[in-house]
Amino acid sequence: MQTQSLWEHTLTFFPQFLAVLRERVAPDATVAVVGASDGKFVLPLAAAGYRVVAIERDALAVHGGEVHLPGDSKVRAMGLIDRLQREELRARVQMIEEDFLAGKPLDAQCEAVWTSCSWHYSANHHRPLAEFVDRMQRLVRPGGVFGAEFMMPVEKRHHSVEHYTSPERLHRHFLGDWDVLLTLRTNEFTERPHIGQPHDHSHRMGLLLAARSSTLTDRL
Ligand SMILES: C[S@@+](CC[C@H](N)C(=O)[O-])C[C@H]1O[C@@H](n2cnc3c(N)ncnc32)[C@H](O)[C@@H]1O
Repeated sequence: MQTQSLWEHTLTFFPQFLAVLRERVAPDATVAVVGASDGKFVLPLAAAGYRVVAIERDALAVHGGEVHLPGDSKVRAMGLIDRLQREELRARVQMIEEDFLAGKPLDAQCEAVWTSCSWHYSANHHRPLAEFVDRMQRLVRPGGVFGAEFMMPVEKRHHSVEHYTSPERLHRHFLGDWDVLLTLRTNEFTERPHIGQPHDHSHRMGLLLAARSSTLTDRL
């Protein structure tokens, strides 16, 4: 890529999601990215040949503008749309500039959905985590793939917010026509400063990948 996401250097399990996509969906399948930000995952998915539905509520991430980076510097960051245009990938991406939790669940059917560390944002705490997960699941066609990496609790305040969750706690949302394919977790680790985090800070992250049964007989 000619440009970098502001989130380029944060830890991710995206390679595990991509490996499952390659096994289970067509090379030109549609993948929804919830909390697309400035395109850390949207651009590689589009460049790999997938069609992408990018859902993001933050206008700065989508359109670019002035951001504060660690070290008190202010820079003009490119947004998702400019980055897509620079890479000639804009035509492969449908933008939905909305709060994923606002209004009715999105009326889109995709072969896969992915989110990276989005649902723990405080703007989502007024709705149960189950609703965020359910809205993601509704986007996935039978036979498709669900992928989420998420923050696990580290600080005391996190333990009272269900949106800092764990692979075990998420399992109950994947009964019925879902098969959990893979869960992973990190220990607590230190991450270097990045946008929104001016100092070294601690995280613990989890991953859950699941597949939706393709037919009724899959469930028997
Ligand atoms: C941690 S950032 C993304 C960083 C990540 N590594 C990446 O580039 O995908 C999470 C993003 O999710 C978005 N987000 C969180 N809740 C959302 C919601 N309800 N609707 C749409 N976007 C949301 C935030 O605005 C933010 O841009």
